[in-house]
Amino acid sequence: MNNENNFKVPHIIGIKNMTEDYIQSILDEAFLIKRNPSKYTEELKGKILSLAFWEASTRTRLSFESAILRLGGRTLGFSSQVGTSIEKGESLSDTITMLAGYSDCIVLRHPRRGSAKLAARVADKYGVPVISGGSGSQEHPTQALLDIFTIQEFHHRLSGLNVGIVGDLRYSRTISSLLFALSKFGRNTIYYLSHPSLKLQEELEYDLNSVDLELTKAESLSDMIGDLDVLYVTRLQKERFPDPMLYNKVKGSYQIQKDILKAAKSDLIILHPLPRVDEIPYSVDSLPQAKYFEQAKNGVYTRMALLKKVMKFNLNK
Ligand code: CP
Repeated sequence: MNNENNFKVPHIIGIKNMTEDYIQSILDEAFLIKRNPSKYTEELKGKILSLAFWEASTRTRLSFESAILRLGGRTLGFSSQVGTSIEKGESLSDTITMLAGYSDCIVLRHPRRGSAKLAARVADKYGVPVISGGSGSQEHPTQALLDIFTIQEFHHRLSGLNVGIVGDLRYSRTISSLLFALSKFGRNTIYYLSHPSLKLQEELEYDLNSVDLELTKAESLSDMIGDLDVLYVTRLQKERFPDPMLYNKVKGSYQIQKDILKAAKSDLIILHPLPRVDEIPYSVDSLPQAKYFEQAKNGVYTRMALLKKVMKFNLNK
């Protein structure tokens, strides 16, 4: 079940408040879709999805677009504020009100924490679901869905895993959502590694205290690599650093060199939400453990499953 704040329709604001059953039902549907995607071409015929992106995106926006087109629906929207009336000062809530009138579901990416919840509150009045495509450094729930779909695809389970997380723990919304997602399935151990100035946000650390997840700080990549089932790497979120000097100081701190992977288990999978900058050299791409492009492709199947679930719930249209 996923019905935060007594909303009329199901909004996808974050993973934190989703149940294990709700998440698993999306993954199960996504596995069926991946096996036979051409079976679903009429599912959302006549439906319109708004893609409202205040921030840059390649994968999230285009895989949502691919997903709705494969389900027989269409899209409208914008990929930056340029050319919209946001440039004239129109507010988030007025923009969402407009899109709720023009479409059956809204995918929103916005730089502010809390933006997805605010949009959901506005669109709910019109019976239109909102799906977060990333809200500031807070959450990126659909990324977590495709991340754990990929983990389940390769490891056939979502519990009892050793997961190494490397990179920008402070500003990466994909890490927040992934940790909440893994906590739902139990008995997972997280080894985390980052520059001291990029450790987990205090608020997230506090929230993770009350979930079923063992968090262990690693001293180095070589320390943990031999134990890992999953290595999840992120880029430094340059755009969220308050001080560009700090970014210059820490950039390049963690790179996954091919040599270090010799000590990894044979069934280790390497994931990255992408885009990468320099965290994973191109030479790693040809290794059997490199699954990040398959992971990105899985975004289409998980988002098809999610759209099917959320848009079919829409009672008013
Ligand atoms: N992983 C991800 O969110 O990629 P984009 O920023 O390209 O959408």
